[in-house]
Amino acid sequence: MPHTPVLKLDHVSKSFARVDTNDITHAVSDISLELEKGEFVCLVGTSGCGKSTLLRLIAGLIQPTMGQIMANGKPVEGPSPQRGMVFQQPTLFPWLTVEQNIAFSFRMAGTLKQNRAKVDRMLETIGLEPFRRDYPGQLSGGMAQRVALARTLICEPEILLLDEPLGALDAFTRMNMQDEIRSIWHSSGQLVIMVTHDVDEAVYMSTRVVIMEAHPGRIKAQIPIDLGEERHRSSPAFVEYRNRILGLLNY
Ligand SMILES: Nc1ncnc2c1ncn2[C@@H]1O[C@H](COP(=O)(O)OP(=O)(O)O)[C@@H](O)[C@H]1O
Ligand SMILES: [Mg+2]
Repeated sequence: MPHTPVLKLDHVSKSFARVDTNDITHAVSDISLELEKGEFVCLVGTSGCGKSTLLRLIAGLIQPTMGQIMANGKPVEGPSPQRGMVFQQPTLFPWLTVEQNIAFSFRMAGTLKQNRAKVDRMLETIGLEPFRRDYPGQLSGGMAQRVALARTLICEPEILLLDEPLGALDAFTRMNMQDEIRSIWHSSGQLVIMVTHDVDEAVYMSTRVVIMEAHPGRIKAQIPIDLGEERHRSSPAFVEYRNRILGLLNY
């Protein structure tokens, strides 16, 4: 039997038309990619090169203008809990506690009772057990982003889509979260696709970096990151990857 990748993009393009000026933006153009279970892929590129559009297409929130996206061999036709997405700004329900936000999908599905233990474990994993009864308005940015991540992770998506999830965090919280996300990815074996414009973050976290360019948004290069588990931001190999990627981004 031929091999079926977890995610396959086949010549995917997405254009947006503006009714008032008749202008067409080619947000992404002719993207082909095959991604496997267990990969951690970072998308990097300048602002406006189509990174968020690409994630929204994979999530099934928008449909391609041309081409096709297949998840496990089936066309993506709409959103699914199998493809969980976390946005740059944590979108929590302000009137629900940390615990209730994380348990939200179970409550909607009427399966909260049998999933109580899972919610408790997730609170432990992300270090928010002491804050389970707090409301989002009481949390720091880093804590709120943890809750948003937990709420998506608890559905155990096969594909985790992260759109600059750490962009609003201070440098130290950010580095801690990088380690946490990597360790969750490690134990779950899921496919993670993360947008970042921080090249160091991409080299630190991923198994493959996909570099995009703008107008139209397309793939310029793909760099497999062969650094193993222990990564040091100042090691010669790390610095070499960083410089190579910055070069491809014209810096
Ligand atoms: N819903 C939309 N309607 C019109 N244009 C859009 C829409 N979404 C994105 N675009 C345009 O598509 C291009 C890529 O946007 P985006 O995917 O958000 O880029 P990135 O996330 O890389 O910064 C930009 O020129 C943007 O203005
Ligand atoms: Mg974006």
